[in-house]
Amino acid sequence: MVLFSAASILLVLAMSSIVEANTCPKECSCDGRKLTVTCVGKNLTEVPQTIDEITLKLDLRNNNLQELPKGAFSLTPYLTHLTLQRCNILRVKEGAFRSLGRLVSLNLAYNKIDVLYQESFDGLSALKELQLDHNRVEEIRPGAFTQLGFLNMLALTHNQLVYIPNMAFQGLQNIKWLRLSRNSLNNLAPEAFTGLFTLSRLSLDHNELQFFHTQTMSRLPEVTRLDMSHNPMTYLGEESVSMVKLTHLYLDHMSLQDLSDQALSRAPLLSHLDLSHNQLRYLEPLKGPYELKSLNLTGNPLYCNCFMRPLREWARVRNVKLLGACVGPPHLSQEPLQSVAPLDLRCRSRGEVLKEEFELEPTESAPPHSEAQTEREVSGELRLRC
Ligand SMILES: *[C@@H]1O[C@H](CO)[C@@H](O)[C@H](O)[C@H]1NC(C)=O
Ligand SMILES: *[C@@H]1O[C@H](CO)[C@@H](O)[C@H](O)[C@H]1NC(C)=O
Repeated sequence: MVLFSAASILLVLAMSSIVEANTCPKECSCDGRKLTVTCVGKNLTEVPQTIDEITLKLDLRNNNLQELPKGAFSLTPYLTHLTLQRCNILRVKEGAFRSLGRLVSLNLAYNKIDVLYQESFDGLSALKELQLDHNRVEEIRPGAFTQLGFLNMLALTHNQLVYIPNMAFQGLQNIKWLRLSRNSLNNLAPEAFTGLFTLSRLSLDHNELQFFHTQTMSRLPEVTRLDMSHNPMTYLGEESVSMVKLTHLYLDHMSLQDLSDQALSRAPLLSHLDLSHNQLRYLEPLKGPYELKSLNLTGNPLYCNCFMRPLREWARVRNVKLLGACVGPPHLSQEPLQSVAPLDLRCRSRGEVLKEEFELEPTESAPPHSEAQTEREVSGELRLRC
């Protein structure tokens, strides 16, 4: 009995000295109640090995880790939040996070990672948010994300991706928002987004896409919001957008010069369409999206003549809010489209147009008509008379 108590006292002493040894590493500050450890800006080249095993949140931002070896965090298996921002990380080795089955949030932003290997994220079976923005990712190897079945949000913005291969995001069975903005994407494989059955929001703005990848996008049955702004697209053809649940589509700040009236005929639930800051001179009524509430044409060189009348009429009947202003003809210049009466959208005779051109100083907001425009106006006038 006495022996036993002595042994247990010894054991307790031994345990407490282990806990003692595992208390705060000298470069870090620790909060024993919240179970957080913070080692920020210490130029650490490796993960401190004496961090308390029961730590939940570990913040290592602003260090100099360079490479994350296999099992880098095997001594802290209860982590839920891990911040590795700005750690000069070049490479994440296979199995670096393997022991972190409780991790919910992993922040690897502002590093120098260029390739996502097959097993880089192995073991992160509870992860919900993965920040990989502001790296140098140019390649996603097959199976890079297969273990991330609970991930909701993946941020890959500000990287160097040029191409998304088939099945790149395989395994993301709960993904809601995929952020691929500000890369150099100019191509998406037909099956690039296959398997993302829960994705509701996709951000592809600020890339180099020259056309709408209809086939690729039609593999996204649940997407409601698609941001494609700031891509160099010039034309959107018939049935380009074939997305059954899409409600919000951002096609602003592109180079659209023309858009087929059937371009959105396969996006039946579209309610908000942003076409602001393109090169559209006019637009026909859009066939298909019956729920359309707002059509943003701000910053387009809209020429408010008889060719715009069908759109104006359609917007009135359907109760679509039109945003944007006319650049011409002069008497309607800067007039909000929404406040122009359909009957004021007229085409005049050649004589009137020529007189007007002669009087009009060419300015940036009201470019002089081309010959073709004059022809169109005249024929429009003739057509209206018939
Ligand atoms: C950080 O560590 C590296 C390598 O250990 C060393 O070369 C560098 O001078 C250190 N920088 C600072 C600011 O301490
Ligand atoms: C329309 O586009 C302009 C310019 O891009 C933007 O500032 C504005 O917020 C947009 N309006 C709506 C209602 O989306």
